Amino acid sequence: MNMYEAIFVRKSTRKYSMELLEDRTLEQFEHFLGQAEALRSNIKTEFKIVTCVEQAGRTQDSFPKGGTKAPYYLIITSELKQDYLLNAGFLMQQAVLYLTARGIATCYQGIASFADEITSEMEGEYVTAVAFGRPKGEVYREPQKLKRQADEKMIVWKEEPGENLRMIMKAAVAAPSACNLQPWRFVAYENRVHLFCRKNSMFQAVLSDIRLLDMGIMIANLYTAAEELWLDVSFSRSEMLAEKRFQNNEYITTAVFREKIF
Ligand SMILES: Cc1cc2nc3c(=O)[nH]c(=O)nc-3n(C[C@H](O)[C@H](O)[C@H](O)COP(=O)(O)O)c2cc1C
Repeated sequence: MNMYEAIFVRKSTRKYSMELLEDRTLEQFEHFLGQAEALRSNIKTEFKIVTCVEQAGRTQDSFPKGGTKAPYYLIITSELKQDYLLNAGFLMQQAVLYLTARGIATCYQGIASFADEITSEMEGEYVTAVAFGRPKGEVYREPQKLKRQADEKMIVWKEEPGENLRMIMKAAVAAPSACNLQPWRFVAYENRVHLFCRKNSMFQAVLSDIRLLDMGIMIANLYTAAEELWLDVSFSRSEMLAEKRFQNNEYITTAVFREKIF
């Protein structure tokens, strides 16, 4: 399975077997993390794998407070610069898709807090974490069991989409989000899509940071799908849209797709 295929069968897993993963699997994962693509290359970030199972010759890290009990966690920290949440979500989702493709279960941890000694030597501030390991039940979900809002609620098609863009949008809306709120909205043309994020209602104020993390996660799905279809995708902000006030949504960026040229 590749990372694109993983998008449609990934699910959040909340029950883990406390078994160790093979050293080789963890080494390959660390190698992958070192090569993950940033959305904003000017923002310094750091990944760290926290191990909460006994491992010969290695002390066990303490479980985080709150959240899911799992053998491993992946933490991401970041410099607090413009778009750091989008960037961290984008990086973290690549890690999630990598693990999913290798049959390893994951779950984002919105409320877990880690002991200071785990994060204190990392670059920047703690942003979020993902629990991972072998699941107690099934690792995958059948694609038709995905629970998401209807596409018509999220996407306005301004032009008749081609097959490629339809596939890309299917991948984008399959992304996980905190409390499954799916804050993303899209205005789509033949080869470009404006990305918007729902503004907070009063009740969701506490989730305001998380919704930008969600947007980064969704953008990673969109990017992975474009790569699969041999399309280059670039992101740029339209000044005109950035200045406009929308009642319910905030403009984030525009994705432009082009055939790859060799
Ligand atoms: C940023 C973020 C934070 C999340 N925090 C939690 C959490 O604290 N606990 C939890 O059980 N699930 C958490 N989730 C998982 C979501 O509830 C889940 O992705 C959503 O309900 C959709 O389900 P699915 O991932 O199985 O498709 C989080 C997801 C995201 C993206």
